[in-house]
Amino acid sequence: MAAPFDDRDGSIWYDGKLVPWRSAQVHMLTHALHYGSSVFEGLRVYGGQIFKLREHTLRLIKSGEILGFTTPFTPDQIDAACRDVVKAQNIVDGYVRPLVWRGSEMMGVAAQQSKIHVAVAAWEWPSYFSPEARAKGIKMIISPWRRPAPDTAPVHAKAAGLYMICTLAKHQAEEQGAHDALMYDYRGFLAEATGANMFLVMDGKLHTPTADCFLNGITRLTIMDLARARGIEVIERHIKPDELAKAQEVFLTGTAAEITPVGQIAEYSFTPGRMTEQLTQDYTAATRGQKAAA
Ligand SMILES: Cc1ncc(COP(=O)(O)O)c(C=O)c1O
Repeated sequence: MAAPFDDRDGSIWYDGKLVPWRSAQVHMLTHALHYGSSVFEGLRVYGGQIFKLREHTLRLIKSGEILGFTTPFTPDQIDAACRDVVKAQNIVDGYVRPLVWRGSEMMGVAAQQSKIHVAVAAWEWPSYFSPEARAKGIKMIISPWRRPAPDTAPVHAKAAGLYMICTLAKHQAEEQGAHDALMYDYRGFLAEATGANMFLVMDGKLHTPTADCFLNGITRLTIMDLARARGIEVIERHIKPDELAKAQEVFLTGTAAEITPVGQIAEYSFTPGRMTEQLTQDYTAATRGQKAAA
């Protein structure tokens, strides 16, 4: 097993400066640990450059605002922190994890006077799913956990607390020999995977669930732009589970997952095909700052 994440060499940016990796710690009476008051981002580094850095930084700050706190650094400062960490860690192809959380000044549900902390770590990280699983298309179960309604949780924040059901769903998938789980939304429509959005190819068109109760992923938006640039019609709508029977290709999108073809969801099977391949090529080019091939 790789070294645990708290026992590595290098530096982490913590509240404004780089500190030794092992000393980037919190106290057990940190509000975020008890009441889930933290938000985070995940970014990828390609060839030493962070992809969509400003978009992720703005979403991080927005997520904090949704949880009722102000991130005590400007977008420029957070962008610079991410770049500094990538440079300090010598990351060529890897992952960046900024985190903003409430500290330990108040213990109890109310936390208005808690100090807001910001930290950014980065590490080498290849594929989220194994290359073999990606080649065939990953296997997914349908989770009994649903994405909550917008009036029951802060669904548009990338907030740590929302991942409690994702971890439960992912564990259940892995226990059943699958790679990931598809979650319905609170109405019973298709929503997303445990850490990625989803797309269905139906008769040459790209369909994707409307992001009205889950994260409107930065990769999702990038893929929609790339598809439209190819003249592919993109349809955002509420999709019923039995419509999976009509999909020829299905894939997931996310910073970590990139574009991951899906081979099976419960009893439905799909074969990764032309559109998934084309958009994967275009996404790869975009992440390297290149124009899509003609
Ligand atoms: C639950 C969830 N949905 C969707 C996404 C995709 O978002 P993005 O493309 O911005 O990484 C992620 C990953 O961040 C996620 O964790």
